[in-house]
Amino acid sequence: MMDRQRVEAVEHLRGTVRVPGDKSISHRALLLSALASGVSVISGLSSGHDVAATRVIVSQLGAELRDEDGDVVVEGARDGLRVSAGKLDCQNSGTTMRLLCGVLAGVPGEHHLVGDASLSRRPMDRVAMPLELMGARLEGQGERRTAPLRLWGSTPLQGIDYAVPEPSAQVKSAILLAGLAANGACVVREAIRTRSATEDMLRACGVTVTSESVGAGRVVELTPSRPTSHHWRVPGDPSQAAFFAVLAAIHDDASLDVLSLDASPERVGFVFVLQRMGARVDLVEHGGAIGLRAETSMLHATEIHAHEIPSVDEVPILSVAAAAASGVSVFREMSELRVKESDRLEGSARLVNALGARAWIEGDDLYVEGLGSARRFRDFSFDAALDHRMVMSAAIAGCAGHGVTIDGAATVASSYPTFFRDLALLS
Ligand code: S3P
Repeated sequence: MMDRQRVEAVEHLRGTVRVPGDKSISHRALLLSALASGVSVISGLSSGHDVAATRVIVSQLGAELRDEDGDVVVEGARDGLRVSAGKLDCQNSGTTMRLLCGVLAGVPGEHHLVGDASLSRRPMDRVAMPLELMGARLEGQGERRTAPLRLWGSTPLQGIDYAVPEPSAQVKSAILLAGLAANGACVVREAIRTRSATEDMLRACGVTVTSESVGAGRVVELTPSRPTSHHWRVPGDPSQAAFFAVLAAIHDDASLDVLSLDASPERVGFVFVLQRMGARVDLVEHGGAIGLRAETSMLHATEIHAHEIPSVDEVPILSVAAAAASGVSVFREMSELRVKESDRLEGSARLVNALGARAWIEGDDLYVEGLGSARRFRDFSFDAALDHRMVMSAAIAGCAGHGVTIDGAATVASSYPTFFRDLALLS
């Protein structure tokens, strides 16, 4: 795919989209299947390059994988995972690197982890701290211990009781995965409930994990044991569905459906934010699975707090919705946006300003003064800075407005290789 991509405005949008398998569940399905004894099957694995990176790495660590009738069959390493002689290349994927640190903490020996330019800027001290308390050692670059990383795993690790300072499903998951190799229970406390895929999936493969809501947060406790093999059925990725939900809502002649999604509460906060802005966007049931239906809407501004969309993955596309709404929207306490694949706080403001609305940052808050309609967006250019969600957000703005030229568009493949094709099929 060309790294510069032109997206033209389209007049009518109709159709149904099947987005790739959920990225979070896909990474975990590969890791848990590799850790398990026996043969696991994964149906609906994400086609993104991030998940492909995890797939290559688990085979380097001793799992055996093959494609069979559209599924991926994984044979766990019978005597446990082992050190790879080669570097483990996590590419653009923070989930791969952080979850893998948790897994490797319990694999004795020295592991080398590397990533691309974007991943090599992202902080790994947030996983290093708890994993070192458990008995692993992690060496990275500088204070924030960025990649390349050297990690020394050992067994058994120590159980831990850890309050995660930032809301992060990746940090919680790294601790729980390391906890599988600990000599006692692991307790993880989060102040804001983040996605529960790791806890839910560990339970599905026989590991004892309890989980209790405490205020807006949660306490999770894991009792160490080896996961059993499982047939994983991966639902569609709601964070990808969010792009089509906003597209339909801001376009002036659109009606779209997205099939079969992970609709767990921590993932679909964006739907309620859009509804509050006046969007005709709903979660609907299609033959036993939850999907999404979205139509042309008149949007008005709202105030959004980070805890409504934990992990803040949907902020860039919601900032496009805010740019098409009337009034001034504010996204509060968005510091985590700065440490994603790119600085998405800066990137979202840059995107909104490029398409002709006005955005500014005050502290960790993002303000967007909307134009009242995507028809008032201008034809614009945008550099996506190695960030797949910035590519897709810019593309949606161009499609509903007056077109866009995106530099660095190839990075969309990290989560959604067929995004531009799926988008073109709707016009
Ligand atoms: C993910 C967690 C999120 C999210 C990422 C996937 C996961 O990051 O941004 O795309 O699979 O655990 P946080 O660790 O900031 O929650």
